[in-house]
Amino acid sequence: MADPTYYIDEDVGVDSKAQTGTEDLPYKTLGFAVLTHGETAKFLTRKSLSGDVPEGSDATSRLEWKPVAKAAMKKAINYAKAQQKKAAREQELLAMRMKEEADRKKVLDEAKKIIIKEDTSLPHAERIKLDETDPAKVKLGNGSDVKGTRVRVFGRVHRERRQKEVMFITLRDGYGFMQVIFTGPLAKTYDALTLTRETSMEILGELKEVPPGAHAPNNRELHADYFKIHAGCKAAGGDDAITNRVSKDTEHATLLDLRHLTLRGENASKVLIVRDAVEYAFNIVYKELRMRKVSPPALVQTQVEGGATLFKFNYYHEEAYLTQSSQLYLETCLPSMGDVYCIEKSFRAEKSLTRRHLAEYSHVEAELDFITFDDLLEHLELVMCRVLEVTMSDPTVKQYIMDLNPEFQIPERPFKRMKYTEAIDWLVEHGILNEDNEPHKFGDDIAEAAERKMTDIINRPIFLTHFPAEIKAFYMPKDKDDPRVTESVDCLMPGVGEIVGGSMRIYDYDELIAAFKRVDIDPAPYYWYTDQRKYGSSPHGGYGLGLERFLAWLCKQHTVRDCCLYPRYFGRCKP
Ligand code: 4AD
Repeated sequence: MADPTYYIDEDVGVDSKAQTGTEDLPYKTLGFAVLTHGETAKFLTRKSLSGDVPEGSDATSRLEWKPVAKAAMKKAINYAKAQQKKAAREQELLAMRMKEEADRKKVLDEAKKIIIKEDTSLPHAERIKLDETDPAKVKLGNGSDVKGTRVRVFGRVHRERRQKEVMFITLRDGYGFMQVIFTGPLAKTYDALTLTRETSMEILGELKEVPPGAHAPNNRELHADYFKIHAGCKAAGGDDAITNRVSKDTEHATLLDLRHLTLRGENASKVLIVRDAVEYAFNIVYKELRMRKVSPPALVQTQVEGGATLFKFNYYHEEAYLTQSSQLYLETCLPSMGDVYCIEKSFRAEKSLTRRHLAEYSHVEAELDFITFDDLLEHLELVMCRVLEVTMSDPTVKQYIMDLNPEFQIPERPFKRMKYTEAIDWLVEHGILNEDNEPHKFGDDIAEAAERKMTDIINRPIFLTHFPAEIKAFYMPKDKDDPRVTESVDCLMPGVGEIVGGSMRIYDYDELIAAFKRVDIDPAPYYWYTDQRKYGSSPHGGYGLGLERFLAWLCKQHTVRDCCLYPRYFGRCKP
């Protein structure tokens, strides 16, 4: 019997198993036809719509079936062979996968039968946090003659890996990390075989030194003899595994939406642990200086730092604001409490998306009675350096700071002092332009970018002082020697810029009322503040330090957003 003939129409044919390859149901490509019927069949082709029409012929000549060219046939045969190979490989892979799945199911079914029990004949297990290294509490075994302490630890799986019959887990509890080893039946249990990152566990075992040449946190490892995963404490796996939700490649906005998960990362947790230590250190240092802590209200009806950044809200049908600064309230505490401070939230309706502006930030503010402007500067540099000393006296916190900012050193005192006018000259000399792209001139508000450039070049803390009255808050007094400027200070730090804003306060009643008038604020609602000047006024001053900016500098973070738990800024109020 003659070889059957199959037809290919490159214009109207269809490559499909439903097609027969006959004249009325042709294929589209020769490759498909060869793949379907083998290379020994006979093939005829045409392009019924776009084919060449020989000179002198009419368009119907396109409809003539022509034999296939040799080269086209060779190409089609190669294509068919490659397709066959690919299909065979896919089949093979599928079979392999199915076998693997069946094998895994078998292993897991077997694993379910392994029930581990705590060996009650073993010594009592001492409950410790993962960073416990006190030799009076924990002794390390050496695997031969010295027995280590048996401990009970709780934590979450930070990392896990399997090496043949042994499982290595890095456990995390917020205090530290511990390497844990599962061997024998422990490593073969269903829970061990299906262990996912972030699962919470309770583990008991003996603490031993790591073998020479191996590395683990605190040079030790926990040789587990029992573990437990409490009901409901397994972390999601598969597509929903934490590693699939947050990774190095996850988009920035998604990371912010998933802040509750990114907080579990090493960097974020280090920054927040340093933050806790810094806040505590401020309290210690202020106590050393015999300053009293107060807690002024957050819901207020007066402004401190200008109307543009006020968050307004309806307070029982009256207009009220979220506080911009506790300063005015602190001032009222001086007569009865002496020097005071607070660490409270301040709120700014900043409409800018810079790396150092938040809508809600932690504000460390202090107010000092009977001082001069020089006293204020000396106090400020003392507080900042002492806070750093106290913070770094905790070895874990110091290590975290060095991990985040390896070059960090406590700055030397005194800090560099630079008057605003000197800064303007410096910016002009260094060709740094103002916001209008012109050389800086007296009266310009030094913008964030220029300020940071200057601070980065000088590369040490700067007390920038004596700003013109026009660009500073109404409550700042004029300098006696140069009435164009005020007794004001910004502390600038490399990498961040301004982290502190402070000043002396106008303490003369009439002068203060005139200052209110100058900025067009009605002094009436401020009666509780102006009364301060009526009843035993005093030369006093104070400052506010942005805790997140201080941390961004200390921990070398690009943005203040990474220095708070759940950042709030223009356009973000979640999670
Ligand atoms: O310079 P500011 O606005 O000064 C005051 O509020 C004074 N009443 C403080 C006082 O004297 N008690 O703010 C002080 C500091 C800034 O130097 C900065 O570190 C921080 O507060 N700060 C902000 N931090 C994050 N986001 C914002 N939007 C901030 N605005 C100010």
